[in-house]
Amino acid sequence: MTESLRPLIAGNWKMNGSRATTRDLLTALRASLRDSGPAPCDIVVCPPAPHLALAAMETEAVSGIQLGGQDCHTATSGAHTGDVSAAMLVDLGCAYVIVGHSERRADHGEDSATVKAKGQAAIAAGLTAIVCVGETLGERDAGRAVDVVGAQVEASLPGGANAGNTVIAYEPVWAIGTGRTPTGAEIGEIHACVRARLLGRLEDGDRVPILYGGSVKPENAAAILSVPDVNGALVGGASLDAGDFWSICQSCP
Ligand code: PGA
Repeated sequence: MTESLRPLIAGNWKMNGSRATTRDLLTALRASLRDSGPAPCDIVVCPPAPHLALAAMETEAVSGIQLGGQDCHTATSGAHTGDVSAAMLVDLGCAYVIVGHSERRADHGEDSATVKAKGQAAIAAGLTAIVCVGETLGERDAGRAVDVVGAQVEASLPGGANAGNTVIAYEPVWAIGTGRTPTGAEIGEIHACVRARLLGRLEDGDRVPILYGGSVKPENAAAILSVPDVNGALVGGASLDAGDFWSICQSCP
């Protein structure tokens, strides 16, 4: 049903790097695009907020690389020390923002209601929200993965979500940064459940991209990206290596 969706590969750089590595990574990515592009997918890179302005300069006038933030506040402006608004991300040249990453849910106690509000703020500002969901190992071992992720999708989906402004990223918490990944069948089971929830909630739920994230590497990317209803990947560690990230992009069907 979603065969015709163009894959999306998003690199989540997390709290890594410097101005120098930001420049190096984007220079290398630009070279790959120039030498062997265009990529068979849309590409988004999400540097840490302090490096977004530089990343915007480095990707200016480069078609084929878009920018995203890693988080945004629910409010448009105001007394929220240390936070970043969705409008600020737009002003910097971002088209996307990740909301509800499990590291934010864990480190900052963000629940699905907060994630939903952040997604709504993102959409209102004109960004596409990449809404993250995923079960813990305990929840998977207890046979609750489908129920937990389904409930997270229901509670985190921003009001006003549609295929043009929302992406779901399924990231099992136990697969993030661990080198462990679910089997293709396990990924397919969850993605089918997410798709069913989207179809139940949105008129164009068949066209909302669903990304897989968690230890995606050049070695496993092709297999993961060929699972039904996997429309791309959210890549952490491997996105910090330009060669690995490009190879993952090239693995899109
Ligand atoms: P990983 O991270 O690829 O390093 O597992 C993915 C993510 O957290 O988005």
